Amino acid sequence: MQKRNKISVIGAGNVGATVAQRILEMRLGDVALVDVVEGVPQGKGLDLLQSAPVMGISGDIIGTNTYEETAGSDLIIITAGMARKPGMSRDDLLSANVKIVSEVTKASAPLSPDAKIIVVTNPMDVMAYVAWKVSGFSKERVIGMGGVLDAARFRTFISIELGISADSVQAFVLGGHGDQMLPLPRYTTVAGIPITELMDKDSIDSVVERTRNGGAEIVSMLKTGSAFYAPAAAAAAMAQAILLDQKRILPCSVLLEGEYKVSGAFTGVPVILGMDGVEEILQVTLTAEERAAFEKSVEAVRKGQEATGF
Ligand code: NAI
Ligand code: 2OP
Repeated sequence: MQKRNKISVIGAGNVGATVAQRILEMRLGDVALVDVVEGVPQGKGLDLLQSAPVMGISGDIIGTNTYEETAGSDLIIITAGMARKPGMSRDDLLSANVKIVSEVTKASAPLSPDAKIIVVTNPMDVMAYVAWKVSGFSKERVIGMGGVLDAARFRTFISIELGISADSVQAFVLGGHGDQMLPLPRYTTVAGIPITELMDKDSIDSVVERTRNGGAEIVSMLKTGSAFYAPAAAAAAMAQAILLDQKRILPCSVLLEGEYKVSGAFTGVPVILGMDGVEEILQVTLTAEERAAFEKSVEAVRKGQEATGF
C-alpha cells in the first residue's frame, strides 16, 4: 500500500491552522501541527480531526508542542512567528521572526532530512534565506510563499475591475513579497488577451497599487493580525504542486544564483514546482523600467538578509 504524505505545519496560528485544514480537505496527506503555546496545536488538531468524518477525509492530524511527531515529513510549512499589526511593515517583524524561524528550522529539518520547506513567515523572502541557511538543504528544497498570494490578489482585483471570473485571469508578479513587489501587466492576461488591451492605464495602475497594498488593506480592516485564508490557500497550492508532482508554474521565492542577473538573494520568480521542489526557474525579458523596479525589490531583500547575521 502506498504511504500517505506527511506534512508538518509549524505555527498553529491563523495561517498554520487554516493551511492544515486546507491540506486535509485537499487530501494531501497526514499533518503534524506544531506550536509553542501549550494546548493550542493539540486543541486545533483535535478539532480538525473531528471534522474528518463529516468531510469524509481519511487524513490524520496531530497537534503537539514538540518535534518528534514531525519526523520523516515530506514537507515542512513554516508559519511560526509574529504577524503585523496596523502601521507595521513586513520588515518590522524581522528581528523577532529571525529567531523563531531559525529555532523551528533547527528543530524540524534534521528530523526530516528529505523534506522540502515552504516558508510563509514574514518578511518571507528573508525568512526563506534563514531557513535555507539553518537547514543546510539544497536551494531547490527551500521555497518561499508570497508570489502565489500576490498574483491571486492581482487576479482578484482585475476580475472585479472587468466584471469577469478571476479564474480566467493569469497574473504575473515578480520580486520580493514586500512593498517593492512587481505586478507585471505586460505578462498578465485574461483568457490569453494581455490586460493592456482590455484596461486603460489608470485602471491598470490602480489594480497594481491595490495589489501592492493587498496585505496592508486587510491588516487595516482586521486590526489584530493579517490575512490568512488566501495565504493558506496559496501555501496549500504550493504543497499540492510538490506532493503531487504537478510541475505547475507558480511565482515562488527562491535563491537566485545568476538567474535574472541576481546572485545570493531569495526573490519571487516563476518556477516549475514538482516533487524535487524547484525544478526550473523560468526567465523572462524585462524592460529597463521593469528591470530597475525588480532590482530595487531585490535590494530590499538583500538588506534584510544582511540584517539577519546569517
Ligand atoms: P498568528 O499570530 O496567528 O500565528 C503565529 C503562530 O506562531 C502563533 O500561534 C505562535 O504561537 C506561533 N509561534 C511563535 N513562535 C513559535 C515558535 N518558536 N515555535 C512554534 N510556533 C511559534 O500569525 P499568522 O497570521 O498565522 O501569521 C504567521 C506568519 O505568517 C506571520 O509572520 C505573517 O506575517 C506571515 N504571513 C505571511 C504571508 C506571506 O504571503 N508570506 C501571508 C500571511 C501571513
Ligand atoms: C500578506 O500579504 C501579511 O504578508 C501577508 O497578507
